[in-house]
Amino acid sequence: MLSYDNLYQLLDNTRLKRWLNFLPQDTHAAIFESNNGNLQTWLDAMEKLPDVEPSSFSLNSDTIKIGEESDLNAEQKANLIAALEIFKPWRKGPFDFFGTYIDSEWQSDWKWNRIKDHLSPLKNRLVLDVGCGNGYHSARIAAEGAQLALGIDPGLKFIMQHKVARKYLPKETPFHILPFPLEGLPTGIKNLNFDTLLCMGVLYHRKSPIEHLYQLKYYMKEGSELLLETLVVDGPLGYSLVPDDRYAKMTNVWFLPSILTLEQWMKRCGFKNIRLVDTNQTSAQEQHPTPWATPESLEHFLDPKDKNKTVEGHPAPLRASIIAEL
Ligand SMILES: C[S@@+](CC[C@H](N)C(=O)[O-])C[C@H]1O[C@@H](n2cnc3c(N)ncnc32)[C@H](O)[C@@H]1O
Repeated sequence: MLSYDNLYQLLDNTRLKRWLNFLPQDTHAAIFESNNGNLQTWLDAMEKLPDVEPSSFSLNSDTIKIGEESDLNAEQKANLIAALEIFKPWRKGPFDFFGTYIDSEWQSDWKWNRIKDHLSPLKNRLVLDVGCGNGYHSARIAAEGAQLALGIDPGLKFIMQHKVARKYLPKETPFHILPFPLEGLPTGIKNLNFDTLLCMGVLYHRKSPIEHLYQLKYYMKEGSELLLETLVVDGPLGYSLVPDDRYAKMTNVWFLPSILTLEQWMKRCGFKNIRLVDTNQTSAQEQHPTPWATPESLEHFLDPKDKNKTVEGHPAPLRASIIAEL
């Protein structure tokens, strides 16, 4: 169930081939030597997933759909739902597994629909989706005809959610997720470069955003494209908010720059042709509580008297998407 053989076969036919010298060992260790106390429960849940061939699947629709309700009998459906419950919370989505609709906390399709037309065509590209969660956007990238849509995320539960979808996809579908943070991705070889990188919702979690930008650059070559999406605040060039404690109840938020500051960071790091393609204040419809996710969501993180402020009094979440090249 947690095999990456299909990914390794695919990599063998790409310029990333030399990565295979050590990627399999490191990936195995990242999962099985993680000391994650939930691993056995997750592996048991994986075993419960019905062994059926889905009659259809769709990665290029706003709801990622795998199989039809009529593909399963009642017992298989109950086993599927029991397994899906184990992998809660489903933060990114939506998904539909054999007629069971996973209403995720985030309407990830909204973000995809805001950015997709700004990206250079993804057909035949090697794409790295940094901090991909369960891979909702990576799946959409694969559906655009990428040679490889490779997500990376250190969250092992997100890897499991991805592996549920992966179980039912044809082996050649070029959509995979590796269990690494960007700074922990096994490298060891030079020129490990992708044509397109997406890094959405990660920069503000990094204590050193400049270092993170350099780490993104490491996986690019001249002409590669980066789509960077992160939280920003209103303010002049040079301004950046560092919350003194929580931001929208999150404990791991560090730098929220103004757009001009973010562009300057990117310029200093050597990015070219830097352009803002979207700004969006997150709505309580796009990030909402659902039975498949968590009872608390954006509406609980904002000041009830002023939806333009977080409960801590900071500006409410505003996201900027910037595209740049090397
Ligand atoms: C806010 S979510 C964004 C998910 C998705 N990219 C999106 O835009 O909907 C941030 C994700 O980044 C992951 N993450 C956090 N630190 C990371 C790092 N250093 N490298 C890669 N991913 C990281 C988290 O596990 C989480 O899944």
